[in-house]
Amino acid sequence: MPNIRLDKFISERTEYSRSQIKQLAAAGKIKVGDKIIKKADVKIDPETDTVEVCGQLVRSEKHRYILLNKPDGYVCSTEENDGPTVLGLVPPEMRTKGLFPAGRLDKDSLGALLITDDGELAHRMLSPRSHIPKIYIVKLDRPFENKYIDLFKNNIVLSDGETCLPAKLKPLEISEKLAFIEICEGKYHQVKRMFAAVGNHVEKLMRVSLGGLVLPEKLAFGECMELLHKDVENLFKFRDFESFCSEFSPVFSANLIK
Ligand code: URA
Repeated sequence: MPNIRLDKFISERTEYSRSQIKQLAAAGKIKVGDKIIKKADVKIDPETDTVEVCGQLVRSEKHRYILLNKPDGYVCSTEENDGPTVLGLVPPEMRTKGLFPAGRLDKDSLGALLITDDGELAHRMLSPRSHIPKIYIVKLDRPFENKYIDLFKNNIVLSDGETCLPAKLKPLEISEKLAFIEICEGKYHQVKRMFAAVGNHVEKLMRVSLGGLVLPEKLAFGECMELLHKDVENLFKFRDFESFCSEFSPVFSANLIK
């Protein structure tokens, strides 16, 4: 990778503006390796140099990828028009300029949400042609019926006449109202509208995987974890639905949406 200016390196990876970086450098707050650097326009090697600002290491990866376990009541938006946004849940040490939620979960939906500043990756992920499978656990109002499995396989038609791509279903043994569903597209309120089309109602919805990215058990609601670019590429490596369902911890699943 070619050398780049220190101020560009820091501004792309933190919330500091170039003018703040200039002031911090002049104040002796920036280090490259073990040397204090007073001029922010010097060139550094982004792969091998370690940079610290105010004693905090600046990560070398250009983009940030954050997996949030979204709680109820937060909107997937960068604007606060309809309540608090998921961006408010990102802890200060993970914040950079230009973060946005890559994809949407409804305000009352829970689970795996990717937040990033990588527009190119988000575009690849959200393109209607990408068909990344997304797995949710649904809690239904009325018991799951086995006839849903074939109905969902054979293109559910929504109330407005839109046809869905085939979706996979698997009831959970621990409760007659819980099921896994896998869909490969992202229509507005899609899962809720699919169950409405077969006469049921989704009471709670939680996304547990996005492509090959699985929500870790240890990540509590409202918590974020940082991912590396190589982990995020798992988005594009799909997993088999049946084996996912059999491996996903039933105890964990039940606790997810009580
Ligand atoms: N389908 C829905 O109905 N809601 C979501 O948040 C995600 C998928």
